[in-house]
Amino acid sequence: MPECQDVATYLERALAGEGAAGHRPAVRGRRQDAPRSKILAAQRYIFYVRERRGLRRRLKLGRRGSTALPRGVKFFSPSQSTAPHSPASMTEQIVILDFGSQYTQVIARRIRECNVYSTILPFNAPAKEIAALAPKGIILSGGPSSVYAKGAPLPDKGIFKLNVPVLGICFGVQLLAHFLGGKVEKGPKREYGKGTLTVLDPNCALFEGLPSSLQVWNSHGDKLTRLPKDFVVVATTENSDYAAIEHSAKKFFGIQFHPEVVHTPRGKEIIANFVHGICGCGKNWTMRNYVDQAVEEIRAQVGKERVILGLSGGVDSSVAAALLHKAIGDQLTCIFVNNGLLRAREAEVVQEVFGRNFKVKLLYEDATKLFLKQLKGVTDPEKKRKVIGKAFIDVFQAATKRAGKAMFLAQGTLYPDVIESVPIAGNPAAMIKSHHNVGGLPKGMKFKLVEPLRCLFKDEVRVLGLELGLPKEIVWRQPFPGPGLAVRCLGDITEDKLRIVREADAIVVEEMKSSGLYYKIWQSFAVLLPCRSVGVMGDERTYDFTIAVRAVESQDGMTADWVKLPYEILETLATRIINEVKGVNRCVFDITSKPPGTIEWE
Ligand code: XMP
Repeated sequence: MPECQDVATYLERALAGEGAAGHRPAVRGRRQDAPRSKILAAQRYIFYVRERRGLRRRLKLGRRGSTALPRGVKFFSPSQSTAPHSPASMTEQIVILDFGSQYTQVIARRIRECNVYSTILPFNAPAKEIAALAPKGIILSGGPSSVYAKGAPLPDKGIFKLNVPVLGICFGVQLLAHFLGGKVEKGPKREYGKGTLTVLDPNCALFEGLPSSLQVWNSHGDKLTRLPKDFVVVATTENSDYAAIEHSAKKFFGIQFHPEVVHTPRGKEIIANFVHGICGCGKNWTMRNYVDQAVEEIRAQVGKERVILGLSGGVDSSVAAALLHKAIGDQLTCIFVNNGLLRAREAEVVQEVFGRNFKVKLLYEDATKLFLKQLKGVTDPEKKRKVIGKAFIDVFQAATKRAGKAMFLAQGTLYPDVIESVPIAGNPAAMIKSHHNVGGLPKGMKFKLVEPLRCLFKDEVRVLGLELGLPKEIVWRQPFPGPGLAVRCLGDITEDKLRIVREADAIVVEEMKSSGLYYKIWQSFAVLLPCRSVGVMGDERTYDFTIAVRAVESQDGMTADWVKLPYEILETLATRIINEVKGVNRCVFDITSKPPGTIEWE
C-alpha cells in the first residue's frame, strides 16, 4: 500500500531511523497481568495528577495553535476529567522513566514501532504507581547528570523489586550500578560518537540474532568501573569494558550506548529483543486495534452528550474529528473558522472531506472580513498574533452558541503535550518554546475535555488518520501556523497581498509534490516580502513584490536546516511564481537554518 510506504518513509525521516524491525517470539519474562480494572484505575489517577499539573503549566505558558487549550476550562473530578485512552493493549506496556535524555521520546517511539505500548513517566514516579500499571518491563532512560552529582535524578529504588525486567540505557546503566552495588567513575576520556560493540556472550537475550560486532552510538562521560552484584559483562567497546551487562536471573540489563538512535543501526532489534524476547510483550499496539478501543472509550466517556470540536484542517484536529465521528456520529459538531488567512483550497478541502464525504455536522464560519478588518494596519508580528487569537475566540465562541448546548470540547492534544518534561539542568529536551499560543477560550466557557489522541505520537496520528479513511492530502500535510498566511505576509496585510502569497504558496506546494519532496521534508512555503523592486518583463519596467521560498528539514520544528533544493526545482519555482502570480517580479530562496532564524518569518 503506497500510504504504508509513505508512513515508513516519514517515520524514517522523523526518527532518522530504520523501518519496523522483526521481533522474536515471547519466550521469557512473563508475569501475571494485573486485573484490567485496577490498571485503568491507576492510569486514570496518574493521568489526573499529571493533567492538573500540565493544565496549570499550560495555562501559564500557553499552547500553540488557534484551538489551544481553553483558559477557564474546568476539570471537575478525576472521573470527569479526560482519562487517558486505555486500550486493552496497554495492559502490555513498557514504562520508561525519564531522566532528562533528549532521546526519551525516541525510545518510546521505537518501542511503539515494535507494536508495544510505551508510557513515559518522570524519573521519580513512585514504584507503587508504576507497579499499578503492571508494566512488562521498565526502561531507565539516559540523562545529562552524573549519578554522584548533587541533586542527581534518582528513581524510587523500589522499582528494582517489582520483579519485572529492567533495561538501563547510558545514565540508566549507571543507576543500576549505583543502586545494585557497582561503581561509576569519570572516564579518562569522554566516549562520544560511533563505537564498535563486541558481544562476548552470544546467548545474551538482548543481542539475540545479532552479529558479535555491532556499530553503536555512545554519549557519556562517566562509566562503569565495577560491576553491580551478580551482573556479568556481555559486551565491550574500545573504550568500555562494561558496555553491556546482565543479571540473567533478575532480567536486569544495562547498556552504555544508545540503541534508540539511528547511529546504532541495529538498535531497534536490541529494543525488540528487550520488549518481545525478554519482557514477553506481544504485538498488540496497532492503530487498527486502537480505533476499536478508542471508539469504545469515547462512547463510554461522552454517553449521549454533545461534543464540539474546532476543526482547523490540520492533521491533529482532522484525525480527532474523524475518530470522534466514528464513535459518536451526529453528537459531534465541528466548527471550522475561515479566517481568510488559509492556504489555497483549504476551506474547500475541509468542507469536501468532512462535510460531503464523512458527513460530519460541520459549522462553517466565514469570518474572512472580520479578521481582515481587525488586522488592518497591524504590522507588528506579535500584535498580529494577538489580534488573530482574539478574533478567533470571538468567532469560535459565537459559533459554539449557534452549535447548541454541548457538554464536551474535543481537542487534538498529542502525547508529547501530555508528557511532563523533566527539568534537569543541561537537558535540551527541557527547552520548550511557548510563543505560539494565539489565545485560549474565554473564562466561563465550561466544557469537559475529550482528547482521543492524547496517548499518541504524531506519526501514530497519521497512521490512525489513514486507518480512518482520511485522504493523504490531509494526513500528510505539512505543519501550518495557527495565524496562517498572516505571518507569511510581512508587514501590513491586505486582501491583494494575501492573494499573492496564497498563489505563490500553491505553486510551491504543487512543485514540491510533483518532485516528490513535499512529503519528505518538514515544511516548504512562500513568504511575501514587504518591499518592491525594479524588474523588466517583456519590454516593460515593473516595480513589484518579492517572494521568498522557504524549505526546511526538521524533526520537531525546534531546530531546522534549510533544504538544498536542486537548482532545477528552484528555477521552476522562480519562473512559475514570477510568470503566474500577478504582482511578483522577483523570487529569492531562504538559506537560513534555525537557529539563528526561525522557520516562519514572523
Ligand atoms: P518557528 O517559526 O517558531 O516555527 O521556527 C516552528 C514551527 O511552528 C510552527 N508555528 C506555529 N504553529 N501556531 C502554530 O500552531 C503558531 O503561532 C505558530 N508559529 C509557528 C511553524 O510553522 C513551524 O512548523
